[in-house]
Amino acid sequence: MCGIVGYVGTKEAAPLIWDALLRLEYRGYDSSGIAVLDGQGISTVKCKGRLSDLKARLRELPAATLGIGHTRWATHGVPSDRNAHPHRDCTGNVVLVHNGIIENHRELRERLLKRGHRIESETDTELVAHLIEEEYDGNLASTVAHVSRELEGSMAFAVIHASEPGKIVVYRDKNPLIIGLGDGENFVASDIPAILPYTRKVIVLNDGECAEVTRDGILIKDYSGRIVHREPVVLDARAEAGEKGGYEHFMLKEIFEQPEALSRAISARIRYDRVILEEEEFGLSADEVKCLDKVYLVACGTAYHAGLVGKMLIERLAGIPAEAVLASEFRYAEPIIPRNTLCILLSQSGETLDTIAAAREAKKRGARLLAITNSALSSLAREADNVLYQRAGIEIAVASTKAYTTQVVCLALISVYLGRLRGVLSPETERELCAELVSLPKKAEAALGVKDEIEKISSELFDRKDIFFIGRGVDYLTAMEGQLKLKEISYIHAEAYAAGELKHGTLALIEPGVTVVAVMNDPALSQKTASNIMEVKARGGRIIAVGSEECLLAVHLDGDDARVPVPATYPLFSPVVSMIPLQLLAYYVAKRKETDIDKPKNLAKSVTVE
Ligand code: F6R
Repeated sequence: MCGIVGYVGTKEAAPLIWDALLRLEYRGYDSSGIAVLDGQGISTVKCKGRLSDLKARLRELPAATLGIGHTRWATHGVPSDRNAHPHRDCTGNVVLVHNGIIENHRELRERLLKRGHRIESETDTELVAHLIEEEYDGNLASTVAHVSRELEGSMAFAVIHASEPGKIVVYRDKNPLIIGLGDGENFVASDIPAILPYTRKVIVLNDGECAEVTRDGILIKDYSGRIVHREPVVLDARAEAGEKGGYEHFMLKEIFEQPEALSRAISARIRYDRVILEEEEFGLSADEVKCLDKVYLVACGTAYHAGLVGKMLIERLAGIPAEAVLASEFRYAEPIIPRNTLCILLSQSGETLDTIAAAREAKKRGARLLAITNSALSSLAREADNVLYQRAGIEIAVASTKAYTTQVVCLALISVYLGRLRGVLSPETERELCAELVSLPKKAEAALGVKDEIEKISSELFDRKDIFFIGRGVDYLTAMEGQLKLKEISYIHAEAYAAGELKHGTLALIEPGVTVVAVMNDPALSQKTASNIMEVKARGGRIIAVGSEECLLAVHLDGDDARVPVPATYPLFSPVVSMIPLQLLAYYVAKRKETDIDKPKNLAKSVTVE
């Protein structure tokens, strides 16, 4: 989704901003632009398409040492040169970039048009430049703070004014914005990776804060105009901007990073055959855990699929009623939150607006909030009472892979921990589950061994119109994530069905040659799934069966079908292992189709609009 970068210092701004925007490319965008400010005023270049298209235009800009840049993911108005940011007012003195959505844009547009403003784009963003033009009182920061009161929605801005050279004004409300501190130079960005090569010292703005950024200093004021003193956070030296490290795509690299990521997520949290969570990671006392009446798991997309696994884990291992809800639905569903409710919010980026809005709703209704996220300093991490970090390492590819498997293990750790505190799990069972968790990185490593087999299978699937995924119990949840992965990056229509549901309607879709991916990891259910597979085969369907050796034995496959064995584990942990062949399947089908695997169309890495 949209990205913001700003620079003020001694270096030439435009190439530096372009380079920083490139590091946000993975978030998804359809146009980009940069504006620089020097003694002569503001100059802007912007265009539809890739940053490589913008690069050719940078020479049109003067060698100024202050500028702002943007990658846009279209919401209001089609992707076009005209709608690309930065946007300007009628005079060209005010220029800004914006992430988020201004919800009252219609009435603002009408009002500005009536007052004679020339509005050139279809965007909500441009309207803000005209509002600043109208209200400018010689002080850009106070004008931006004032104008922000008229705006409804979510927003992060970086604004420059021709009369105030040497200064970038930034404002944040419900959209992330950070300030990076350098030596004789400062940076602004919507996301940390943008500025990692330049500085590791950052200040995170809170909602309602407005800041003036010059090369020598930062002045932050809160919503009521009071000066805010905030110490910068120094980022971990291991924080990396993300390199492909010899892999053709980030997605493949991240699939292969899973054993290591899982090991980071698990190992320090299991000691002496027990799950140990630190106070800041969990926070509820043993007594509070015993009193828990309900757990909600709230998330979007892939993280929601992890949440569905979490519901099963928490109910089975800790005996607490649990419900997984899509974040975009939770907020408006008037959820009933019993007195002792834990709301677990899952978000790789920690910036998904739907999830953050759901967190606020749950908090308002009295729930305790636990975030599972991969992003330190993210809005969600700061919103929640406690944070369990996934420790997956930066995920660049838009399609989530290691974020999913590390979320599942975080949920497994929580479930075992809750199960012990509530007396549901005996020490013996906890020991066995912990041993199983510790073995998951090795099992994931073994599952990666199916790569060549999957590549071969994929070469026959790339021209399919529909592919179905089936499974029972937890395998159905793996099937759901498998189909999402496939359609996200290959654009092939895919659907997941609970295997037992096929005969209640969808079996009509199975025709000769149609491929059905069957997931089988639960020995208690494999015979049943095997019967459903026979229903598919009787109608000419072709099976790709993914699962443990033991479960695969239950099914009779023939020449046209494929068998993809993965190591067996405790069934509710199996998504961590059996998802790996499905991620590889999506990857190789997309590769064969030559889609833009790391940046699939119309998808963004972190979705900061509702
Ligand atoms: C799928 C994918 C999306 C995200 C969803 C939530 O591969 O990446 O479905 O899972 O947008 O994102 P986070 O986890 O950042 O809240």
